[in-house]
Amino acid sequence: MGDAIELLSVKSAKKSFRLGGIFSGKELIAVNEVSFSLFKDAPDIFSIIGESGSGKTTLSRMILRLLLPDSGSIALDQVDVHSMKGRKQVLEYMRNVQPIFQNPFETFNPLNRVDEFLFATAKNFFPGETVDQARERAERALNAVGLALSEVGGRYPHELSGGQLQRASVARAIIPNPKVLVADEPVSMVDASLRMSIVNLFQDLKNKLGTSIVYITHDLATAYYISDRIAIIHRGFFVEQGPTSAILTEPRHPYTQLLVESALDPRPGSTSLADGAAATTGDEEFLAIGCKFAGRCPKAMVKCRLSEPPEIVDGDRMVRCYLYGGNDES
Ligand SMILES: Nc1ncnc2c1ncn2[C@@H]1O[C@H](COP(=O)(O)OP(=O)(O)OP(=O)(O)O)[C@@H](O)[C@H]1O
Ligand SMILES: [Mg+2]
Repeated sequence: MGDAIELLSVKSAKKSFRLGGIFSGKELIAVNEVSFSLFKDAPDIFSIIGESGSGKTTLSRMILRLLLPDSGSIALDQVDVHSMKGRKQVLEYMRNVQPIFQNPFETFNPLNRVDEFLFATAKNFFPGETVDQARERAERALNAVGLALSEVGGRYPHELSGGQLQRASVARAIIPNPKVLVADEPVSMVDASLRMSIVNLFQDLKNKLGTSIVYITHDLATAYYISDRIAIIHRGFFVEQGPTSAILTEPRHPYTQLLVESALDPRPGSTSLADGAAATTGDEEFLAIGCKFAGRCPKAMVKCRLSEPPEIVDGDRMVRCYLYGGNDES
């Protein structure tokens, strides 16, 4: 990606939370030194995969600028989220980086008709335009997600199927013509039979509208299917990152290897990280010194428990593991 111009750039982003009240003195770093970029003129589906509590939603909230990083930077078109001055710049950022929520019912007010909500969204983002123009924008967005105004017209959220409602919520997200969509577990509440059609829709939007998509999930299978690049997040750290097929066919980090193995497990539902060998609970791993995975890692060495492994970059791949270097200098 040498000379490519960055669209969204996340550099060493960090966010911590205090554990157990302000006097406990314990800090949990929910997102730790995370870096990745999306590039202009090269729309991409970038998936962030990790088990429950790995920091996915915290990272997605920072990308959406609902939360500011404690350190590091997040920038859109070279403008850092910290340096934005005034409401106008912030609104412009938020217009360009749009969320798709896990639960489409969160997008819509149950008391409002879906089409009215979409018109209002268009009116809100393009206040100078006429009602007819707002309708056209809403209709175009619905068409882009495979719905017609005649299907959703006059209906309330509960009168649409789950799949239709999730499509309508994607339509809402594309009305302002965003450059980036951030979808945090967008299909986990949709019937398994409809999941592929929603993730296929993302591919469609990337190809037709040129929108880049950050797809956040614990589901390796859908991520494998639609993403160009992936990052594996474990206890706040990106432990591995790179082109999807390279990472999943030849995983380097022992954690990625574990995920891929459990995804290949033929037992039903085993592609989900919610259960199986990969899952752990509690904050102990977060608080571990050194590599957060060392406690479960079959290849852990003494140094892994002493200090955090650095990012080892090899071409378009990154792995954060002592097995691949960083031995003496850190
Ligand atoms: N506002 C907060 N205050 C304190 N701790 C928080 C806060 N938000 C998140 N955390 C903690 O940060 C860690 C990461 O949480 P996060 O919600 O980002 O994970 P996640 O990967 O989205 O999980 P899930 O898959 O369950 O949605 C968790 O240990 C969580 O308890
Ligand atoms: Mg989450």
